[in-house]
Amino acid sequence: MDAPGWPALGNSERKTDRSAIGRGVAPGRPDGRLVLHALGLRKHFGGVQAVSGVDLAVAPGDLRAIIGPNGAGKTTLFNLLSGDLAHDSGQIYFAGEEVSGLRPHELCRRGMGRTFQITSIFRRLTALDNVRTALLSHHRRHYNVLIPARRFYRDEAFGLLERVGLREQADKPSGILAHGDQRRLEMAIALASAPRLLLLDEPTAGMAPRERHEIVELVAAIARDTGLAVVFTEHDMDVVFAVAARITVLHQGAVIAEGPPAEVRADPEVQRVYLGQPATRPR
Ligand SMILES: Nc1ncnc2c1ncn2[C@@H]1O[C@H](COP(=O)(O)OP(=O)(O)OP(=O)(O)O)[C@@H](O)[C@H]1O
Ligand SMILES: [Mg+2]
Repeated sequence: MDAPGWPALGNSERKTDRSAIGRGVAPGRPDGRLVLHALGLRKHFGGVQAVSGVDLAVAPGDLRAIIGPNGAGKTTLFNLLSGDLAHDSGQIYFAGEEVSGLRPHELCRRGMGRTFQITSIFRRLTALDNVRTALLSHHRRHYNVLIPARRFYRDEAFGLLERVGLREQADKPSGILAHGDQRRLEMAIALASAPRLLLLDEPTAGMAPRERHEIVELVAAIARDTGLAVVFTEHDMDVVFAVAARITVLHQGAVIAEGPPAEVRADPEVQRVYLGQPATRPR
């Protein structure tokens, strides 16, 4: 099913029109109704064209999976979108404004949250303090140095931990949490900045299949409840096709298909380059 608010598409929703893949709107022009709109993004590393002219249109409330074989360019694309890497060419629009060249913290302040393929939390801080630190950093303009940090945002932090199923783990040092719980914590940290868009690079990396489903279902529920748009990468095709509202398929840095799961699943090019291969890689 399409995400609420998805703008009328120029191309047919029912069959993949390769001339319009990844655009969903008039080519070459930003669409202010989209939360994220990337046009013609390119990035090379030496002789490797990691991202090769990618267009991506994400509407508010969309739950978008980016899939593709190892090395397809998913993480590089995320790094371009989040400002962690500079692109060689192309434009990025966030909520209707061009944000090309902005740094990650500036994008975060505008409402773009992200998690990384590799876990990044303060391992010695408790789960609660990790989330509280994120809340403090988000609200830092209102920070009063005379009031101890510990008093701030306690209820909000508990609320976010509750949302990701970590209420009971609040007082444990984050470093001793189970791997899956650390990924949940990262999500709470990302939500602390009240994002409009969340970029999740392999939120289920290193998890067993059941837990993968749980985490992605959690992401879907958060997206549904809050109207937040989520773009995630995931190697488990069962998870992707069960949860994503739309799927973008990358292959060798380029978008080869984009659309609702059923349409993408039926696409012969996708089947050839990707779904014909083992769905999950050993990690
Ligand atoms: N910092 C870098 N320096 C050089 N080459 C890089 C760098 N980062 C990525 N690449 C190359 O760019 C291509 C895309 O890599 P990327 O990590 O974006 O793929 P991916 O789709 O995220 O893969 P995976 O599924 O394994 O996470 C690969 O050929 C990779 O080797
Ligand atoms: Mg990657």
